[in-house]
Amino acid sequence: MSIAPPGSSTSADTPAVDVGTLTVGVLGGTGPQGRGLAVRLAAAGQRVLLGSRDPDRAAEVATEVATSAGTVTPRPGSVQGGSNTDVAGAADLVVVAVPFAGHAATLAVLASRLAGKVVVDCVVPMAFDERGAYVLDVPEGSVTQQAAALLPDSAVVGAFHHLSATLLEDLSRSSIDADVLVVGDDRTATELVQALAGRLPGVRGIYAGRLRNARQVEALTINLVSVNRRYKAHAGIRVTDV
Ligand SMILES: NC(=O)c1ccc[n+]([C@@H]2O[C@H](COP(=O)([O-])OP(=O)(O)OC[C@H]3O[C@@H](n4cnc5c(N)ncnc54)[C@H](OP(=O)(O)O)[C@@H]3O)[C@@H](O)[C@H]2O)c1
Repeated sequence: MSIAPPGSSTSADTPAVDVGTLTVGVLGGTGPQGRGLAVRLAAAGQRVLLGSRDPDRAAEVATEVATSAGTVTPRPGSVQGGSNTDVAGAADLVVVAVPFAGHAATLAVLASRLAGKVVVDCVVPMAFDERGAYVLDVPEGSVTQQAAALLPDSAVVGAFHHLSATLLEDLSRSSIDADVLVVGDDRTATELVQALAGRLPGVRGIYAGRLRNARQVEALTINLVSVNRRYKAHAGIRVTDV
C-alpha cells in the first residue's frame, strides 16, 4: 500500500517528515540486532520502544540501552520496553528484528496494529550447516515480501540487513562506515527509511529496488557472514559512485 507518514504531504515538492521526530519500535528488540539499532538511534536522539514476547525482559533491556545511549546523548525516557503488541501499536515506524523462524507468526497477529505504518524488515532467512551459512527458501520470494503479504495495510520496506550488531552496539566506534540498501514499493516509505539509516553515524541509506528485489539483499547478508568467518571481521558494504 501507499502511505503518508505522520505530518507528511503527498506533494513531491513538500519536504518529507522529519524522521527524527518519529518513535521507532523494534520487534524482537531484546536481541543483538534490535539492541544495536536501538542504542545507535537513541544516541542520535531518537525515541525508541523495544518489543519482546516478555515485557519484563524488554524493560530490562531498554534500561541497558538507555544507559549506553545516555553516555552519548543523555535523554531520560528515550528508550522504553514493552510487549511486541504494545510496541507495534505505540510506535510510528516499526523495525522487525526477530529470527526468521518466528517472523511469520510474530507479524500475523500484528497486522491491525501495524496498519498505516512503515514496517522495516531486517530479517535474514539463514541457516548454518557443516559448510557454513546458507540462504533458506522463502515461499513468498523473500522475508520482506512475506511481511508485505502478512501486512497488506502497512508500507513494508527491507533494510539494515548488512549492519553488524557488534558494530552497532559498540559505541566506542564513532562511525560504522557502511551503506544500508533499502528496498520497497512505496517511495515515501523507502525515503523515510533511507533518512532513518542516515541517522546512524557513518551510514547512508541507498535505494536498491522494489520489494521483488529484496531476496538478493537478504541473501547478500550470508556472503557477508562468510566474509566475517574467514577474515574475523564485521564486514559491511559500500555502494560506489552514489
Ligand atoms: N545479529 C546480526 O548481526 C544481524 C545482522 C543483520 C540482520 N540480522 C537479522 O536481525 C534479526 C535479529 O537478529 P538477532 O541476532 O538480534 O536475533 P535473535 O537474538 O536470535 O532474536 C532477536 C529477538 O527475537 C526474539 N525471538 C526469538 N525467537 C523468537 C521467535 N521464535 N518468535 C518471536 N520472537 C523471537 C527474542 O526476543 P524475546 O525473547 O525477548 O521475545 C530475541 O531476543 C534476525 O532475523 C537476523 O537475521 C541480524
